[in-house]
Amino acid sequence: MLRGELKLPGDKSISHRAILLGSIAQGSTVVEGLFEGEDTLATLQALRDMGVVIEGPEKGRVLIHGVGLRGLCAAPGALYLGSSGTSMRLLAGLLAGQGFASELTGNLALSRRSMARVAEPLQRMGAGVLLADQQRPPLRLRGACTLQGIDFDMAAPSAQVKSAVLLAGLYAEGPTRVCEAVPTRDHTERMLRTFGYPLRQEPGVCTLEPGHELHAAQVQVPGDLSSAAFLLVAASITPGSELSLPAVGINPTRTGVIEILRLMGADIQCLNERWFGNEPVADLRVRAAPLRGIEIPEHLVTRAIDEIPALLVAAACAEGRTSLSGAHAAQARDTDRLGTMAAGLSALGIRCEAGPGTLMLEGGALAAGEVDAGGDHRVAMAFCIAASRASGPVRIHGCETVETYFPNFTGLCEQAGLYVAQEG
Ligand code: S3P
Repeated sequence: MLRGELKLPGDKSISHRAILLGSIAQGSTVVEGLFEGEDTLATLQALRDMGVVIEGPEKGRVLIHGVGLRGLCAAPGALYLGSSGTSMRLLAGLLAGQGFASELTGNLALSRRSMARVAEPLQRMGAGVLLADQQRPPLRLRGACTLQGIDFDMAAPSAQVKSAVLLAGLYAEGPTRVCEAVPTRDHTERMLRTFGYPLRQEPGVCTLEPGHELHAAQVQVPGDLSSAAFLLVAASITPGSELSLPAVGINPTRTGVIEILRLMGADIQCLNERWFGNEPVADLRVRAAPLRGIEIPEHLVTRAIDEIPALLVAAACAEGRTSLSGAHAAQARDTDRLGTMAAGLSALGIRCEAGPGTLMLEGGALAAGEVDAGGDHRVAMAFCIAASRASGPVRIHGCETVETYFPNFTGLCEQAGLYVAQEG
């Protein structure tokens, strides 16, 4: 049984954007509730390497002494971004139009991920972008290029790609327009407005004109709904549970997970809705409820793309069949998340089959067993939650990245009444 009130780490996507925009704003920006995990610290270090003075982080607070749109300087060497794809793609956009060259590198996991989708529109804008073999990092930017604004129709939904194009648009000549058929998270657009940068937003289209400045702001980062997802599922599937998760972001481009869980019968309430700057937040309350399998509506998938592993655990504990389709993007993450989840759930006795962008599973009793998260933190955390419902111990391999992505995950679980033993 999980009970109590748990404070979640700050939203990772919003934290990246606060650091990036605070650095190129004029004046000093205070960010509170920053996510202090490896990824956002990589973004922070990159900006420091380019001459931005950033005090902290201390208990989620940083003070960023912005250098203005044209104030960044060349880093002394390559910018190392660990495994953070978000850092690499957003920085590629921000640095494409600078007067200096940059090189963006990452660890082995990031070096295996394609950067083609971000390189292509930036090249169309006139940026000199060079990738290694098979469109992978290191990503080299020639710098000193004159960028032109473009009309960009996003073929596959991606907030990272959209954000990179918008950030490059700050340095381009003429307007930059991004059209998306499927809405992706819009934290960049909201954060630009927080820093006083005007944008034109119509449904599915965002237009940014150069020639304005960003002005320092006070940013309060909401709790991360993607982290909350694990606890929403854990409490939903554990009889007698009731958890409160205060001040979690409920930006509508992210709430697919709540909507899907509700369709499955989950009892989740958004209380005390309010605003942290331009981002809506609420105190979430979740109570255990019997879940049923569903056909997950495709239009909710992009809005729950990072929460697929947690949702599949909910489906495994639900009565009946759940089917997922249109989730190709979940296969190009730290692992092929549909494949790794299907393999792990099958090892725990769940009938489960993954295909290209699809997964079908039959809810049932979870057995003891061994699973491999393949170093994918979201998969590892999902299996920790699954283990709480298994008939015996579940040993999860490939968990080493969990604490760097969700600091104190095991501590928070324990606080709620869910014990996760770490080995090795
Ligand atoms: C993110 C966008 C999403 C998400 C990632 C963070 C962002 O990726 O999966 O964890 O902060 O913009 P895509 O843009 O590749 O869909």
